[in-house]
Amino acid sequence: MTTRREALKALGAAGASLALAPIGKALAAPGDSSGVASFSLPLRIPPVLAPTSSTSTADYYDMQIRQTTVSILPGKSTTILGYNGMTPGPTIRARVGRPTVVNFYNGLPATTVAGTAGQCVTHLHGGHVPGSEDGFPTDYVAPGTNRTHTYPNNQLPTTLWYHDHCMDVTGPHVWYGLAGFYLLTDATEDALNLPSGAYEIPLVIQDRNFNAAGGLVYTKNMNGETGNAVLVNGVVQPYLNVASRKYRLRVLNGSNARAYRLALSNGAAFRVIGMEGGLLPAPVSVTALTLYPAERADLIVDFTGAAAGTNVTLLNTNVASTNTTYNVMRFRVTDTDDVDPSVVPATLRPLTRLSTAQAVTTRSFTLSGGMMGGAWTINGAQFDENTAIAKPKVNTVEIWSFSNRSMLNHPIHVHQTQFQILDINGAAPPATHAGWKDVVVVPAMGTARIIARFADYTGRFVMHCHILEHEDMAMMARYDVVA
Ligand code: C2O
Ligand code: CU
Ligand code: CU
Repeated sequence: MTTRREALKALGAAGASLALAPIGKALAAPGDSSGVASFSLPLRIPPVLAPTSSTSTADYYDMQIRQTTVSILPGKSTTILGYNGMTPGPTIRARVGRPTVVNFYNGLPATTVAGTAGQCVTHLHGGHVPGSEDGFPTDYVAPGTNRTHTYPNNQLPTTLWYHDHCMDVTGPHVWYGLAGFYLLTDATEDALNLPSGAYEIPLVIQDRNFNAAGGLVYTKNMNGETGNAVLVNGVVQPYLNVASRKYRLRVLNGSNARAYRLALSNGAAFRVIGMEGGLLPAPVSVTALTLYPAERADLIVDFTGAAAGTNVTLLNTNVASTNTTYNVMRFRVTDTDDVDPSVVPATLRPLTRLSTAQAVTTRSFTLSGGMMGGAWTINGAQFDENTAIAKPKVNTVEIWSFSNRSMLNHPIHVHQTQFQILDINGAAPPATHAGWKDVVVVPAMGTARIIARFADYTGRFVMHCHILEHEDMAMMARYDVVA
């Protein structure tokens, strides 16, 4: 442990040496390091992966983790790490109650373009799975070998995602491309008749920096790596041609560290129908929604009545309008004669509330660090894969209370389960955040309490800050669900 941590610290100190090259200067509009003009490239939708085989009870998939060179910036090539050689990786579509078995082959070189050793670990974020299947950070898969994960899909349907979770190098591995969607649905959700097919669009928002040659630049900023170029589904500030009707957008903040405050350029309200753990009991109408890293939002955006030629831009109003990360993507209304048979019911799915009276214990965790280049810690300690700092009993309910003693907000993620937020700085969460979640933002110098049932599955899991550089700089802890 000590050796690894010391090595990591040295790396942090020499941070810049990890970067491949300095960021190019004086590039074309929009002024970010991509040089790509805003809304000049079409949105891509990651392909849905076909099973290699299916039986009456399960679907089997094969995925290869590869370093490959792709075209992200016109006229330049970018070396990435990608599931099946693409970023985002292919989308897996799964059904509740029908297990998915994914065989991940690690085809990475011994030293990757990210400067990491080629070992990797894949985690299904938001998945309710046994510890053996979760992708513990030290369950290394060496280059040239494979690892099969079985996902039971024994949970509420929602937008999940898979990504690398390799100890100490999750930040660079995700930055260079190792992430993809995993969409879980069921018959109850189908029956709601929400927008579907071509009108249900997964959108992963990620910021990146590029060098003049088109290569990705990663500096291992211990406060969190941010980029000056915004990509959606791997395309810089893309556009999407839409019809004048309702769309379901499954939005994932897949950025290492940046939070986005999403709003529409016409000021229109949009409906939040779910977050990380599935549908809310009822849609919540908002004009802005902030997503921290790893948070998901299931949104209904309605272009009904918009004239052909109307442009609606998805904005990040966390930053000034002059900032290169202000524009996220653009919807161009091109088709006004589509019929829209979809509905957004006033009632979506009943929510079973966990009550504090059900909790068998309350555990307290303090989040610290960031002073004078020090490490990020939970309960004063850096990640130690051999020490479980909590051992909840399977099928029991617990309250976890987080106290942030640092000057940055930390989006804390807990594996194995979805939880409900009891309060943030003593106040109940807004309706958008009152359903099932797997990320809770613990405000700087503030507190947050969550309640969770650790159902069904035992084993080793982790909880951690999902600012990936905080996670890599050890703001992560092992916890075990025990029999
Ligand atoms: Cu998104 Cu521990 O993971
Ligand atoms: Cu996770
Ligand atoms: Cu953090």
